[in-house]
Amino acid sequence: MERELALEIVRVTELAALASAPWMGRGDKNAADGAATSAMRAMFDTVSVQGTVVIGEGEMDEAPMLYIGERVGSGNGPEVDVAVDPLEGTEIVAKGLNNAMSVIAVANKGNLLHAPDMYMEKLAFGPELAGKLSLTDPLETTLRRSADLLNKKVSDLTVMILDRPRHEAMIKTLRKVGVRIKFLSDGDVAGAMAPAFPEAGIDLYVGSGGAPEGVLAAAALKCLGGELQGRLMPSNADEYSRCIRMGIEDPYRILTMEDMVGSEDVIFAATGVTPGEFIGGVRYLSEQRAETHSIVMRAKTRTIRFIRSLHYLPNKALLQTSR
Ligand code: FBP
Repeated sequence: MERELALEIVRVTELAALASAPWMGRGDKNAADGAATSAMRAMFDTVSVQGTVVIGEGEMDEAPMLYIGERVGSGNGPEVDVAVDPLEGTEIVAKGLNNAMSVIAVANKGNLLHAPDMYMEKLAFGPELAGKLSLTDPLETTLRRSADLLNKKVSDLTVMILDRPRHEAMIKTLRKVGVRIKFLSDGDVAGAMAPAFPEAGIDLYVGSGGAPEGVLAAAALKCLGGELQGRLMPSNADEYSRCIRMGIEDPYRILTMEDMVGSEDVIFAATGVTPGEFIGGVRYLSEQRAETHSIVMRAKTRTIRFIRSLHYLPNKALLQTSR
């Protein structure tokens, strides 16, 4: 993939973020998601790739756009796998909370795991801990080892986790060990990426969230030098056989970075819709101007670019037509 593709991709996440931002705080997550999805779909046609959606808005029969298997891109350029979440954190936007983003990862064909839509147990951490922790260890062991490796007291560790009843036992352990907990209401792509940004002040991300979001976060962490380990959590026979159909022979095995993102040739881009741990949200400067904050990275070089763009809205033809 040519490096210029990174900039083309970030234009797509920018447009999706701009499309969903007007729905911030309006209590309508489907409208926010629909606006982001239409804009992303429309903008993708301008990108020079022959792309196939491997992680998207759902199966063909349940999603009108950006469904799994859909061809995207201009039809010229490299054959790539595309993982998208036009609006990661639909509920966040509906409620006007933090950490919603529009997200894309692109890799050469065959290099992104086709993750089934189910929960995945996750353990994510930044470069200082990469290669040194295992999801197979009990949580308490992981916490103590992390503190040792980071040269911190356990009580100075900060762990991020989705605020969900299913995490009750994990939260009990976190409290018992005495770490700080930063709860996330939603949006665990940003949550899993956070430990790779020292300014976010998060040491570890733990707990279960969507498997597709896990692969997106793994792509980001590959670019950031961090790590995510995952384990699918099929909850019934149907979900188990879906894993097998999608080529995952042992659905309960630990998924490594290699399993989820098989190549260094991966591009990740995200644009904030609402303010987050490491990028800002869409901000309206006037009726005609909006500011976006994005991050775009390539694993090959590990350059991390933060892009602040000032958009002139009347000239965003696709923003108007995709509505
Ligand atoms: P949506 O954007 O699809 O609403 O997902 C938000 C999210 O918080 C993800 O970031 C996370 O992986 C998943 O939902 C967690 O699922 P649940 O809300 O069922 O705990």
